[in-house]
Amino acid sequence: MMKHLFSFLLSAAFCLNAAAEIDYQVVPMPQQISIDKSGKYFTLNEGMTVAYPADNAKMRRNAEFAAEYLRLAVKPSDKKGADINLTLGLKSDNPDAYTIIVAPKGITIQGASESGVFYGIQTLRKSVMNEQGEVHLPCATISAEPRFSYRGTELDCARHFFPVSFIKTFIDILALHGVNRFHWHLTDDQGWRFEVKALPLLTEKASIRPHTIIGKNVGLHDPAVTIFDDTPETGYYTQEEMREVVRYAAERYITIVPEIDLPGHMIAALSVYPDMGCTGGPYEVWGVWGVADDVLCAGNPKTLEFLKVVYDELCSVFPGELIHIGGDESPRVRWKNCPKCQAKMKELGLKEEAGLQTYINKEMEAFLSLRGRQIIGWDETLEGGLSEKAAVMSWRGYEGGTAAAKLHHHVVMTPTSHCYFDYYQLKTHAAQPLGIGGYVPVSKVYSMEPVPEGLTEEEAKYIMGVQCNLWTEYMLSPDHVEYMLLPRLAAMSEVQWLQPQDKNYEAFLGRLESMKQSYRKLGYKYCPEVE
Ligand code: ACM
Ligand code: ZN
Repeated sequence: MMKHLFSFLLSAAFCLNAAAEIDYQVVPMPQQISIDKSGKYFTLNEGMTVAYPADNAKMRRNAEFAAEYLRLAVKPSDKKGADINLTLGLKSDNPDAYTIIVAPKGITIQGASESGVFYGIQTLRKSVMNEQGEVHLPCATISAEPRFSYRGTELDCARHFFPVSFIKTFIDILALHGVNRFHWHLTDDQGWRFEVKALPLLTEKASIRPHTIIGKNVGLHDPAVTIFDDTPETGYYTQEEMREVVRYAAERYITIVPEIDLPGHMIAALSVYPDMGCTGGPYEVWGVWGVADDVLCAGNPKTLEFLKVVYDELCSVFPGELIHIGGDESPRVRWKNCPKCQAKMKELGLKEEAGLQTYINKEMEAFLSLRGRQIIGWDETLEGGLSEKAAVMSWRGYEGGTAAAKLHHHVVMTPTSHCYFDYYQLKTHAAQPLGIGGYVPVSKVYSMEPVPEGLTEEEAKYIMGVQCNLWTEYMLSPDHVEYMLLPRLAAMSEVQWLQPQDKNYEAFLGRLESMKQSYRKLGYKYCPEVE
């Protein structure tokens, strides 16, 4: 009895404390939080009701999310008197905008669209997540809208394969941070993970990486000094599984940007279709990280036939407008020495091999635009001249993004300096899991300004967003992926959502403490130290 009484007193004291502490300062920080000075509050209890417009399936799903996060009961809004009301109709040009009004009798979350309501729910969820039992929410008006329309995170599932169950957890993590694009890197030299029904060898054979890196001191990426284990890394996603992931992501307002990297990073495909290489092979799926000289032959008509089969199936699985065609790290040495490639250059009147990559990109752009899609590629796609509408992902620095924006092409900024989350996040590596090198601490991520200097206001509008990348050469497990992602994604989330004048690193570090508490509650791994 005494023990029970003691724990009751403790939790009562905790609740009182908690009531005083709720300030809605979550990550990403809402632009406006005005707390009513009257001291009035709304009391949130488990089992309360959340209502949604009865004729709207997306809003019903939003209500289910709210119910799940806050342990509420869902009801359609034609039944009056719900405790939390989800509504549309917020006047804003930004579809992701939301306002939360907390009043003594209930909470209203209003969005400019269903996605805005979802983000409002996430903010409410994060505001109360670390509390227990009955929660007192001070009356307040909270509103926010994200700075960028493209708020991305990339995961490389080619170098290491991660099961669908983890992909869903990964998407949950993105949703918690207000990310709305999942760039899914599905193929590379080290493995082909996208099922193509017309080309079964890609998943039967090209998905098998013969061995994987486990050794220390492997910073050189040189097979001669690398320690491998000889357990093959295998796995691929069936189309059915990927459609399920698309559905799961869409419910959380996340669009998948699938990437099939071309014309380089294609050794896995070449291992089963060697005719498509300039030398004819043989080729083997790579066990080591690097950049291969062997790429798709640009002069062989089979290459485009292959790509069209692959991308046609890709479009049938992924409905999003943007399709990533890769384009990075594709050496031209094979093209220089290939009679077919040289003949194609002559036919097209090209002086530089770089033009062959542009030729392939233009073919793919035309093919995909018939399916209502738009291509995006890494910044190397600028080198031979961009195809007409291609968007650019600027990874080698700010220069590619700057040049593309000046040419009025849409841009996603993801420079290695701030956005490569495969780099170490702490200076001392001794206690860290093996990484690729580099140093991108939380403070560096937070300091990022995605719009390059030197753009006019008009040109700056082409910077549609910013993305962090997880290349998984050294990430063998879901736990390791989470550790590299968190808490850096929290910093990235504020880069994606906040206007520069609203960013404040010291205040962010305070918010980060409660975010870390949320990670623990949700069972996510994260790097506990912040530099
Ligand atoms: C890249 O990191 N090769 C885009
Ligand atoms: Zn060739």
